[in-house]
Amino acid sequence: MFETKFNQSKVIVVGGAGFVGSNLVKMLLNNNPETKVVAIDNLMSAEKENLPLDNNRLTFIQGSIADQVVLDQINDDVDYIFHLATYHGNQSSIHDPLADHANNTYTTLRLMDWVKHFKNLKKLVYSSAGCSVAEKTFDEAKATTEQEFTNIKHDSPYSISKIIGEFYSVYYHNQHQLPTVRARFQNVYGPGEVLGAGQWRGTPATIWRNVTPTFIYKAIKGINLPLENGGVASRDFIFVDDICRGLIACALNGKAGEVYNIASGKDITIADWANTIVETAGSTSKVELLPKRAWDNSGKRYGSTDKSEKEIGFKAEVDYKEGLKKVISWTKENLERIEKTMKKHEKFLSI
Ligand SMILES: NC(=O)c1ccc[n+]([C@@H]2O[C@H](COP(=O)([O-])OP(=O)(O)OC[C@H]3O[C@@H](n4cnc5c(N)ncnc54)[C@H](O)[C@@H]3O)[C@@H](O)[C@H]2O)c1
Repeated sequence: MFETKFNQSKVIVVGGAGFVGSNLVKMLLNNNPETKVVAIDNLMSAEKENLPLDNNRLTFIQGSIADQVVLDQINDDVDYIFHLATYHGNQSSIHDPLADHANNTYTTLRLMDWVKHFKNLKKLVYSSAGCSVAEKTFDEAKATTEQEFTNIKHDSPYSISKIIGEFYSVYYHNQHQLPTVRARFQNVYGPGEVLGAGQWRGTPATIWRNVTPTFIYKAIKGINLPLENGGVASRDFIFVDDICRGLIACALNGKAGEVYNIASGKDITIADWANTIVETAGSTSKVELLPKRAWDNSGKRYGSTDKSEKEIGFKAEVDYKEGLKKVISWTKENLERIEKTMKKHEKFLSI
């Protein structure tokens, strides 16, 4: 068992019904027999079935963290907060920047402002995104370190919101000594990412919410995999258990005010990722070459792992081929549930 030493702590996971959030909630409950967990989520991009609702150490609060009625239920008896709420994802935020603001930037501000004087709080871990600071290059990627400055030019309101969350993390730490730690994620994949989870957010990306679950679903169904821009872009893919371990390392070992990359430290092109998925799933699908997405200039990237290895003792453990095998099996086992969730949005697709 992976020991996490939260003991009798009370932990809040904001965005706790989401993909990463629900995996984190389960890891916290499973590895810490005395820990109480509160998951807060408005189910904007999640289904509550993701949570182990029958566990009596879990409390689920359904609502937005930006609403006062929800904040009123958070008191200074909380030891750790993980802030994972976001308006998922880039395309939804481009379609509706105000909804992104309300569920992304504003959630961070409301939460940090509410807890700024909490004396018991040991750490507030903010989930940031490597895309907000990575160099935009289609040449060979170099490891993005924590030192990188953010460009003023961002591809989406989502990316802007993520970096503003970092600004607030640093501001509330400096001004109010709020013990914030920023965890900069790379691309997460793993069981529990349900295509179409949550409410319609204006574009088909509500269903096709990320490259890995999209490719896996299509590979299982024998549908061709859409490969934008020849699949030349690359990403640092990290298995969800590793991300959760990284978040926990940030909470337990991270220094307040600091930032840590939670990455695998390797990049793989989207074309190679697609081919590995097709091969691992034993699929007949082919790749279908599509033009570059007009808004997407993010190119090739991966995160440097030096600082997180040295300072918080975090290193990703799951090999990507093993990780993909697990997600493919999980997707096959949960196909009925996933398709039911995807189907909810059919009526919007025809508009
Ligand atoms: N998954 C990745 O590859 C990745 C990469 C970089 C950063 N991140 C960050 O990690 C976090 C988790 O991402 P995820 O992939 O699990 O996404 P997700 O969409 O599955 O989870 C986000 C959760 O936030 C909830 N939410 C939205 N608005 C809310 C509000 N106002 N109040 C309370 N809850 C609200 C959603 O319903 C959802 O459950 C996000 O902050 C995201 O920006 C993820």
